[in-house]
Amino acid sequence: MVLICLGLEGTAHSFGAGIVTDDGKVLSNEWDMLKPTHGGIHPREASRHHSDLGPSIIHNALEKAGINYNDINLIAFSRGPGLGPCLRTTATMARTLSLKLDVPLVDVNHCVAHIEIGCLESSFEDPVTVYVSGGNSQVIAYAGGRFRTFGETLDIAIGNMLDVLGRELGMGFPAGPIVEKIAKQGSNYHSLPYSVKGMDLSYSGMLTAAKKLFSEGISIPDICFSVQETAFGMIAEIAERAIAHTKKQELLLTGGVARNNRLTEILEGVSERHGVQFHRVSPSLAGDQGAMIAWNGILQFKAGRTIEISDSQVLPKWRTDEQDILWRA
Ligand SMILES: [Fe+2]
Repeated sequence: MVLICLGLEGTAHSFGAGIVTDDGKVLSNEWDMLKPTHGGIHPREASRHHSDLGPSIIHNALEKAGINYNDINLIAFSRGPGLGPCLRTTATMARTLSLKLDVPLVDVNHCVAHIEIGCLESSFEDPVTVYVSGGNSQVIAYAGGRFRTFGETLDIAIGNMLDVLGRELGMGFPAGPIVEKIAKQGSNYHSLPYSVKGMDLSYSGMLTAAKKLFSEGISIPDICFSVQETAFGMIAEIAERAIAHTKKQELLLTGGVARNNRLTEILEGVSERHGVQFHRVSPSLAGDQGAMIAWNGILQFKAGRTIEISDSQVLPKWRTDEQDILWRA
């Protein structure tokens, strides 16, 4: 019998519902993203977006998959890390469905889910993963039963830095893709803080310095070009060192910022230099969506892990390395 899992993702500004089978087929993957008209993402507004649109997104996912509620064998939800109000809204929907349908509930670590959906798509077995998004910037690899964070940002995430910069420069949200497009017209490199601290990164100083360049009259294309080259060079350095240290043979790029072609080009260069395979997760599975939650739910369920509703409180600060990865043991 094929096992069908409905996965709900709602850690930040996106709400997603994905339906995946235990043989790794994504039957549907529906989502919607809150786009603030001004300023950043307000957690309460984002959670209202999820509660308003969640039911219809789930309904659409079922319809696209061609199944009914009664065909679902398992409910998985993103338990963390993320914004408290968003996590709680999503968890409430997952618990309700689990009770109503009388099927097991599985709690999923959002970052781990990004890695495993990338492995499913690429058939990679044990990669070094560069996970870059609006909320996270991490270089991760599996060691000793857990996904270890080899390096990460100490302040803001790379996607957040690009979005805030874009907002300052008058671009819409999300600004990352616009920064990428405009950077192609830039060619003069202006020095920005290259903040690699041990294996960790810092992006907030770069944001301040880039805003200063703007106030000094440096052209927007040159600023975008300089920011991309510096920011991506920093995370590529960490990835390169993680590959050299772990001697792993695969490099995986995932998260919303994986859609950036310049970052992809730089990491392709790293993988060529080290003779390792490279895969960038396709756009539909790179950002935050429910299919990755559903697939991780299946992996965990098959390894014998489910959660009682009474134990399923959300974990806004749940770190990648705080979960035993039973299915890889
Ligand atoms: Fe994410």
